[in-house]
Amino acid sequence: MIMKSVQIISTGLSLPSRAVTNDDLAAIEDTNDEWIVKRTGIRERRFTEGEESANSLALRAAERALKKSGIDRKKIGLVIVATLSGDYSTPSVASQLQQALGLDKDIPYFDINAACSGFPYAIETARSFLYANPERPYALVTGVEELSKLLDMTDRSTNILFGDGAGAVVIRLVEGSYASVLGAQSSLAINCMGAKSDSSYIRMDGKEVFRFAVRILPHMINTTLEKAGMTYDQIDWFVCHQANKRIIDHVVRAMKLPGEKFYCNIDRIGNTSGASIPICIAEMEEKGLLHSGEKLLLLGFGSGLTWGSCIVSYR
Ligand code: ACO
Repeated sequence: MIMKSVQIISTGLSLPSRAVTNDDLAAIEDTNDEWIVKRTGIRERRFTEGEESANSLALRAAERALKKSGIDRKKIGLVIVATLSGDYSTPSVASQLQQALGLDKDIPYFDINAACSGFPYAIETARSFLYANPERPYALVTGVEELSKLLDMTDRSTNILFGDGAGAVVIRLVEGSYASVLGAQSSLAINCMGAKSDSSYIRMDGKEVFRFAVRILPHMINTTLEKAGMTYDQIDWFVCHQANKRIIDHVVRAMKLPGEKFYCNIDRIGNTSGASIPICIAEMEEKGLLHSGEKLLLLGFGSGLTWGSCIVSYR
């Protein structure tokens, strides 16, 4: 199927400076490095401190992606931020980027909340907007989370999992195979804060999420490839939401996929929900792992429950 596909022009990364190790958590609650590493693959995560916040992380990642792209900022037609943890319920993180980045006022700025699936949702949304506005052919798409402020530090079953950070990409449309799969299924298995919730912190039925993840990932991989008319071996990188290393290992084994094509940073970054996929992509670019024309299958899944995948290429 030939249609307009999404190409990543540049990336930007922003992580808080404070690293919190498993031993740091073991000093404040009944947990230990061995348990956390064995169950999740996580060794440390980053937490904001001082002046750092979701908005400042998003700004730094977006500024870096824009600078690297070298494009005229007037050509940006859209700014989307995938997040569930911006500084304010309103204004959105996206609208706060306008002035700081020196972008035109007369373009759309909005946040998307699809939790850990937010980044593929945002890419698919940006693709539709870019179709409609060829005069401004670039979109700035950022994923940011500051989950440390939503963690119950007395609940060891959730506070070991999550971290903070931001990643951003500048994208444009090019000719090429494309497909996306977006979906949701009502469940309160992961119930993050809110007026109707019994808690203002992240609560989660970890086992239910695990079962959901290992069921939905093969569905997304197969359906996305089928829709794009592509096969596994045409994908250079599988960039999965970093929820748990065991989830990724399970899917690699069950589908007999090459594990070396799954980029993983959960050991250093933890689960950063809507930011995890763009953080991975930005790190991959920084490490020189991405080459021109390579195809990346982005795979998000999480609270909602939601899921989202899409195929993008690298410039
Ligand atoms: N340290 C030590 N022991 C612990 C800890 C901890 N941090 N947390 C729980 N335990 C104990 C439990 O109390 C339990 O003890 P018990 O047997 O005496 O009752 C035992 O360890 C097993 O607990 P489980 O919850 O059954 O452990 P499980 O093997 O299910 O692992 C985990 C938990 C890691 C959370 C796993 O279920 C998981 O990764 N699920 C997926 C999470 C995920 O992907 N979330 C992403 C979505 S989040 C979002 O969208 C915002």
